[in-house]
Amino acid sequence: MDNRKIDRCLRTRQFGRLRLLLDACTSTNDVARDLALAGAPEGYAIVSETQTEGRGRFGRAWLSPRGGIWLTAILRPPTLFSSLLSIPLIGALAVARGVNSTLGIRTKVRWPNDVVLDHRKLAGVSAEGMSRGNSLDFALLGIGVNANFSSSLLTGFNKSCTSLLDVIGRPVNRELLICSILLEFEQSYGLVLSGNTTRALDLLREHDCSAGSKVRVFLGDVQLVGTLTDLVSLTEVRIARKDCSSTVVDSGSADSVEYLAD
Ligand code: BTN
Repeated sequence: MDNRKIDRCLRTRQFGRLRLLLDACTSTNDVARDLALAGAPEGYAIVSETQTEGRGRFGRAWLSPRGGIWLTAILRPPTLFSSLLSIPLIGALAVARGVNSTLGIRTKVRWPNDVVLDHRKLAGVSAEGMSRGNSLDFALLGIGVNANFSSSLLTGFNKSCTSLLDVIGRPVNRELLICSILLEFEQSYGLVLSGNTTRALDLLREHDCSAGSKVRVFLGDVQLVGTLTDLVSLTEVRIARKDCSSTVVDSGSADSVEYLAD
């Protein structure tokens, strides 16, 4: 990863302006947490060539071979803890838009936090929060993109995934992609913080591929099987059962989500 290349193409106001590029770490989230606790400002980004203990959503391990984009950005949202729940989805939107505009492909967002191409997972986004009393002290936006490695490296770990190398057939410019993702995130996060959630939701619906899919959602001990009919908000989806009843599910209460074949 070339820091000067990032300098040349970064168009953000704040995100990624301060950054740390590492060769290896346990998880960029661990490094970001220490920096945030030491006072690092919003937008500070940590990128690592590889992670030995990358973490995914639902406490899963996240394999992070060389060639990927493993990035965490520090967020200091002024609003309540609930804003944390929308971060994975608007982060996924930023990744989809960044990848699509840079590489001319059509990736989609899949609730609650995936970026997929032809139903195969290309990237995942996580959010971890650290609160003080009732307010959110800081949050960590974690972005993992399977970029310049073959997804066969992940086989057995996650069967239904892909990588940019698989799709495009040659290594992509990761620096350009990072700049584009950070700019997209800064814009969609700005929409959410300024209360323009309607615009953010419209953009999400344009990029969404979850609506219409059959899903199994684990909510504690309860399993909900049905069709995800629509995104209700930046954090909630509606799931319709066979008997025509429906439930609105918040991404914060879903322990795990499986997309089922039709
Ligand atoms: C998911 O889909 O489960 C979310 C995956 C998030 C992975 C990224 S890679 C950079 C950051 N560091 C981590 O340990 N996790 C996130």
